[in-house]
Amino acid sequence: MMQVAQANLEVVRRIAHPLPIRSAPAFEAAVNFSGSYKQPVHRWFRYREGFSPSMMNMIREGERVYDPFCGCGTALIEAARKQVTAVGTDVNPLAVFVAATKAADYSIKDRRLFAKFARLAGCEDWGRAQAPSMPLLPKLFLPAVLDELLRIRAVIDTADEPAQNLLKLAWLSILEDCSNVFKEGNGLKYRSKRRAVGKYLEIPASVWINRHFGSDVRAFVRNRWDEATQAISEDLKLRPLHWKSPKVIEGSCLDRDTVLGVGEVDTAIFSPPYANRFDYFEAFKVELWMGGFVSTPAELAKLRKTSMRNNLTVRGRTDYEVPELEELLELMDPQSTSVRMGIKQTLRGYFEDVQKLALNLQACLRPGGRSICVVGNSAYAGVLIPTDTICAMIFQKAGLNVETVDVARHLTVSPQQRRVMSGDLLADMRESVVICTRQ
Ligand SMILES: C[S@@+](CC[C@H](N)C(=O)[O-])C[C@H]1O[C@@H](n2cnc3c(N)ncnc32)[C@H](O)[C@@H]1O
Repeated sequence: MMQVAQANLEVVRRIAHPLPIRSAPAFEAAVNFSGSYKQPVHRWFRYREGFSPSMMNMIREGERVYDPFCGCGTALIEAARKQVTAVGTDVNPLAVFVAATKAADYSIKDRRLFAKFARLAGCEDWGRAQAPSMPLLPKLFLPAVLDELLRIRAVIDTADEPAQNLLKLAWLSILEDCSNVFKEGNGLKYRSKRRAVGKYLEIPASVWINRHFGSDVRAFVRNRWDEATQAISEDLKLRPLHWKSPKVIEGSCLDRDTVLGVGEVDTAIFSPPYANRFDYFEAFKVELWMGGFVSTPAELAKLRKTSMRNNLTVRGRTDYEVPELEELLELMDPQSTSVRMGIKQTLRGYFEDVQKLALNLQACLRPGGRSICVVGNSAYAGVLIPTDTICAMIFQKAGLNVETVDVARHLTVSPQQRRVMSGDLLADMRESVVICTRQ
């Protein structure tokens, strides 16, 4: 075990050696979304994997900003606030809808319409929208909660756009809280289960339902709805009547065709999926089905395949090899669960996608333009994968000049990984901002 750790550290240091790595605690708060839950507009939809709006205050962005992995649009909204032209791309139609709805321009009439329908949906009975044919639906919502949600939805569906989009966004934003599951780790966890050593225990329905929803589940849904629509109304009052609405494109930033539509860019600022097996389509499947973004399991499966290859469902074939990565993969225990499940191929695919991204950035950035990438490292089978420095190396090979790898903060690892990794390696578990210039 010591030998593996030593060899791991040697490769990690060799990759890092030529790179300008420095500690940058000023980025610490900027690389995570937690501070955004209370901020105007950003609080409209919880997207844990986003970075903080303050990220945009840490950079000189120039006149045209591009976020290739725009998620719920954090960078785009902040660019618009500064009157900067911004374009974003994302493969997840839910993320695209959230970003575009947050970013759109709303006239006084739209704002009034929104407020009127928000009130009606909370108190009048306009019938019930049709439930999606999601196989898990009965397990995901209590019958009375689902009924209340679909009654609100029926009213939303009669409103005109763009107010309807704002109403739908408010509705999507309360689904997690109104459901029997919550997002945790790499997926969804049931509120009715409690983790105990090595197993999950079932909590009696009378206990967990009362604890989460209180005694009146319909009132719970209506309160969440009122809070969500109230927040949107308040935040719209702070927004100028006309602003530079960012453009949001649904498509893969790894496709040359998508990127050609983006035009010439001064600053690309983004956070790609980390090589941590997180599946965005799994985590947001309730919202994807309920929002009508997918209507069959096959559609969801097809969407999953469009993602950057950071998880096992999008592994696919690849011949791409980075020699240093291969050295790290060699060190992994072949009997470990992650290796048996195919993590080596996932990581090769992931870095092949980083290379595609780098070539596309090279194509859309103007000479002297900058790429600012927030990314975190991971560990599998006791081996640390320094994603930040491998990305920097790939960016460099694609013709971008690496200015700095700014270490923003340290990340924790699972107890199993901590047992097998040495202290020196644990110090390299971190989130960094890789800053490059297009030559
Ligand atoms: C870390 S999140 C970005 C969050 C964003 N910075 C924000 O603040 O909301 C990564 C995003 O990349 C998207 N994504 C994954 N593969 C993609 C691809 N090939 N092209 C574009 N977006 C992709 C995911 O859907 C997810 O929204």
